[in-house]
Amino acid sequence: MTTPAYEIRPLIVPASLDAPNAADFIAMVDVRNEIYREISANDDEAATPAQLLPHFQEDPDNDKHSWIVLVDDEVAGRVIVDIPAEQGSQVAYWTVELLERVQGRGIGSDLLELVEETARQAGRTVLESWAEHPEPADGVSVPRLPAPTGFGTIPRDRPARYYLRHGHTLEQVDRKSILDLDASLATTRALLADAETHSAGYRVEQWLLPIPAQYRESFAWAKSRMSTDAPTAGLEVDEEKWDLDRLERHEARYLEAGQTVLVTAAVHEATGDVVAFNELCSGADPTATTQQMDTLVLREHRGHRLGQLIKCAGILRWREIAPESRRIITWNAEENRPMLSINEAIGFAPAAYIGAWKKVLA
Ligand SMILES: CC(C)(COP(=O)(O)OP(=O)(O)OC[C@H]1O[C@@H](n2cnc3c(N)ncnc32)[C@H](O)[C@@H]1OP(=O)(O)O)[C@@H](O)C(=O)NCCC(=O)NCCS
Repeated sequence: MTTPAYEIRPLIVPASLDAPNAADFIAMVDVRNEIYREISANDDEAATPAQLLPHFQEDPDNDKHSWIVLVDDEVAGRVIVDIPAEQGSQVAYWTVELLERVQGRGIGSDLLELVEETARQAGRTVLESWAEHPEPADGVSVPRLPAPTGFGTIPRDRPARYYLRHGHTLEQVDRKSILDLDASLATTRALLADAETHSAGYRVEQWLLPIPAQYRESFAWAKSRMSTDAPTAGLEVDEEKWDLDRLERHEARYLEAGQTVLVTAAVHEATGDVVAFNELCSGADPTATTQQMDTLVLREHRGHRLGQLIKCAGILRWREIAPESRRIITWNAEENRPMLSINEAIGFAPAAYIGAWKKVLA
C-alpha cells in the first residue's frame, strides 16, 4: 500500500481573523466543523473561527502544536498535539482528524509518526486521545469493544481499528448525552426543589465570568480538583495546579472568544468557599448547542445532593441567559454513576459513545 501525496503545514495562528495570514486558520475551523458533522450528523460541536482563535493562542499552561493536512491543495484535515505544562507530566494529548473523502488511504497512519515524534521531542511518553465512535446505521452489525472498566462499549469502527493497529489501548468509554431544551423543564424544577431540601448549610450562587473576587481562590481550587476527583480509569492525568493567574487566563480565553459561561456554585455557608460548581458555555453564536463543561462536588462535600442542586439551578438560569440555544451537550465517564443518574433524571439522553485511548511509547 502506498500513501498518496499530501502536504502537512504547521498551522499559522493569526493575531486576528483580519490578519493577512488568517486563511489557513479559517480553513482549519471549516474542516474541523465538517469532520464533526460527518461523525455526528449534526452541528452540535460546530464553532466559529473567532470562538476558537483564543484557544489556539500562546498559553503557558499548554504548548499546542497544530498542523493542517492538505490533499490536492485543499485543507482536508488537521493534527493537534497538546503538551500540558504541569511539572513532571508524561502526557501528550493528540488528535488526527481527516475528512471522509481522504480517509482509508494511509494518511492517518502516516500522521501518527508526526504525533509520536512531537511527543518524544517534548519528553512525553504517554499518548492519550479521544474519538467519537458513532453507532452503525440500523441493521448493520459491527463487533463491539468493551471498556476495561466494565462500563460501556464502542463499535469496532475505523477509528477503533486505527488505534488498535497502532498499539493504542481503549482505557475508558465516555457517554455523550443531549438535553433537549424545548422539552418541559418541570422535572428539573422538581429536582432542584428536592436538592434544596437536602442541602442545608449550602447556598447557590451564579455568575457569568469573571468569577467575583471573594470566590476566586476557592473556585480555582475546585477547578484544580477536576483533574484529581473525576473518574479517569487507566488514563494518566496530571494533577493541575490552578492559581489566580491561571484562572484569569482561562476566563480571558472564553471572554475573548465571545462565549458566555455561566458558573453555578454551591457555597459552603460556614466557610464561604465554593465547594461545588458547574459550568455552562454558549457558542459565539447564540443559537449554537450549549456545552456543559466541568461539574464537580469536592469529595468532602458529597452526599448533600449538591451535584443535583447546581446542575438543575444552572439549567434553569441558562434558559433565561441563552434562550435561543436548543440543546445542552455533556460528556461523562460511563462508570460515573452518580453523575449519570442526575443527568438521566433531568432528561439527558445518550447520543454517542467516546473512546479514551492510550499508548505508552517505548
Ligand atoms: C481515524 C482516522 C484518523 C484514520 O485515518 P485514515 O487516513 O483513514 O487511516 P488509514 O488510511 O491509515 O487507515 C484506514 C483504513 O484504510 C486502510 N488503508 C490504509 N492505507 C491504505 C491504502 N493505501 N489503500 C487502501 N486502504 C488503505 C487501512 O487498512 C484501514 O482499514 P480499516 O478502516 O478497515 O481498518 C480517520 O479515519 C479520521 O480522521 N476519523 C475521524 C476522526 C477520528 O476518529 N480520529 C481518531 C484519532 S484522534
